[in-house]
Amino acid sequence: MTLAGKHIIVTAGPTHEPIDPVRVIANRSSGKQGFAIAQAAAEAGAKVTLIAGPVWLETPPGVHRIDVETALEMAAATEAALPADCAILVAAVADWRVDPATAKLKKADGPPDLHFIANPDILVGLGQSPRRPRLLIGFAAETDNVIANAVAKRTAKGADWIVANDVGSGVMGGDRNRVALISGDGVEDWPEASKDEVARRLLERIAAALG
Ligand code: CTP
Repeated sequence: MTLAGKHIIVTAGPTHEPIDPVRVIANRSSGKQGFAIAQAAAEAGAKVTLIAGPVWLETPPGVHRIDVETALEMAAATEAALPADCAILVAAVADWRVDPATAKLKKADGPPDLHFIANPDILVGLGQSPRRPRLLIGFAAETDNVIANAVAKRTAKGADWIVANDVGSGVMGGDRNRVALISGDGVEDWPEASKDEVARRLLERIAAALG
């Protein structure tokens, strides 16, 4: 398999949404699956742009990494990385942010009244973009009704494929993963494997689809 001459964008990790200069809203994404996918894409010969939220992982060899903190920064970096043949959005992007206070909130002032604002959906944005990558792939992190939710997400978000991920069982932060690949052709259950193996298998499918 070769992806020589192809540009692939990967988003990975969580986003951090600041509340004040010292506090953030975060999630448990480790970035491992996204980094493994970026590595497998580079090993297959693609030019890879990896847009990473705050994670403590080494940059895979040959991968161009852009570090971001917030969903807004991740959206801007993804847009700036276009055009691409394929985008794989693995990041666990925060759905909401708050308008951060400029000074540290003090305990004595009582619990803060946080007003949430919706973040842009990067996957939906790419799906509607005139520069939409030919192959647009999202992940669906689910704890319940994994397949049904992921099938609905593929249509709702305008993705070509969704990798459905049951995150209810120690997947976040772990080294193994069990996914299903959802495409227009249906649902394919993949056996549990290491995140590296899942990445290589996905990249084989991507190489076949991009031709
Ligand atoms: N995603 C994105 N931008 C967002 C939220 C999600 O690009 N603001 C992408 C993720 O990277 C993933 C896909 O959308 O590829 C699905 O993310 P997920 O968290 O499973 O779904 P949500 O749309 O956030 O829906 P919900 O939290 O209700 O399950």
